[in-house]
Amino acid sequence: MASALLGALRAPVRRSGAFAFAAVKPVARPPTRGFATSKLLRNAAPESAPAPKSSSNTPLFIGIGALVAGGVGYWVATSDSTTAKEAATAGKSAAQAVKAKTNFVPTKEDYQKVYNKIAETLEADDYDDGSYGPVYVRLAWHASGTYDKETGTGGSNYATMRFEPESLHGANAGLDTARTKLEEVKKLFPWISYGDLWTLGGVCAIQEASGPKIPWRPGRIDGFAKDATPDGRLPDAAQGADHVRNIFYRMGFNDQEIVALIGAHALGRCHPNRSGFDGPWTFSPTTFSNAFYELLWNEKWTWKKWSGPKQLEDKKTKTLMMLPTDYVLVTDRSFKQYTKKYAQDEQAFFKDFSAVFNKLLELGVPSQQWASEPYELKTLEEQKA
Ligand code: HEM
Repeated sequence: MASALLGALRAPVRRSGAFAFAAVKPVARPPTRGFATSKLLRNAAPESAPAPKSSSNTPLFIGIGALVAGGVGYWVATSDSTTAKEAATAGKSAAQAVKAKTNFVPTKEDYQKVYNKIAETLEADDYDDGSYGPVYVRLAWHASGTYDKETGTGGSNYATMRFEPESLHGANAGLDTARTKLEEVKKLFPWISYGDLWTLGGVCAIQEASGPKIPWRPGRIDGFAKDATPDGRLPDAAQGADHVRNIFYRMGFNDQEIVALIGAHALGRCHPNRSGFDGPWTFSPTTFSNAFYELLWNEKWTWKKWSGPKQLEDKKTKTLMMLPTDYVLVTDRSFKQYTKKYAQDEQAFFKDFSAVFNKLLELGVPSQQWASEPYELKTLEEQKA
């Protein structure tokens, strides 16, 4: 694949449908805000989400039976802490708590419905580059990346970013945008846990942005403020390779996995009012691709002269950025072999990213909690066929 910078010269392809961008190979385009977008989905009548019938719930009953056998003390069918407390104090089983609250146990089809609704919230002319996708991915990652393999604390299980002070941690600045937007979906499917909703949001955003399929499964429960992790567990973009390794090794990742994960910076941008950094990494920040590695590997990067935090800019156009922690992926001897590989082979990146993103989103969830094996949900485009 030619350099993404060269690609910038190609004529931009207009998305024909709300998610047509998902079917288009990354088209490099200037990082303008407000991509062309279809009004179709946003004008659609709001769809209610009736509680599904309980007849086809056998697989999940089995999964939840396993959870009960595993002795998990509480399960929260809805995520308000009153319900959580009730379930905990009464010592109700997961199945009992879910059934008592909703009278059904969700199936894969139900999660596909949640996926579809999340997908419908992605596009927004008036937000960033036209999509909430990137900030959904960042929410899923920050909700999971607090995991510490030594203590088994943190991770996506309890959705503790709902609580202060975790919601106010510097690293989480701006993620209220994603949490608030996903509330629209939560209202329609009140039975889903926040951990499942946020991680599914990340999966949906990647898949709808023409990324790889990410296996996903439900089973996270909503915990309490006491389960929140201390500040400092997420990476600091101003640091170097040692810091990056310390943070990601703590979660249980190796060098190849670290490089594959950070390729998610193909999506989105930095916001001065959130992190202090400024700008997108690629010319197509709403398309998932290997452009992050291509640009990192092929372009010349210089330190930006400005009053903000230390960041790099591409020498040619000065419109793209890299964080100090991104740059170590081409300077560190071990990291750079994977950066080169992913720059040259998008298929390899997609395969590795799919596996490692799935692993990230499952951190901190006790195995007996899973309601099923991971499965793939369909994109909106696939469901049209
Ligand atoms: C060393 C590791 C990492 C560091 C230091 C880092 C740092 C950052 C920073 C500073 C921002 C800008 C936030 C803002 O101003 O809005 C950002 C955005 C983002 N990060 Fe990371 N990140 C890292 C790893 C990851 C990983 C592992 C993922 C996902 C797998 C990820 C996904 C994203 C996405 C999608 C955005 C764009 C969000 C948006 O457009 O609103 N990052 N990251």
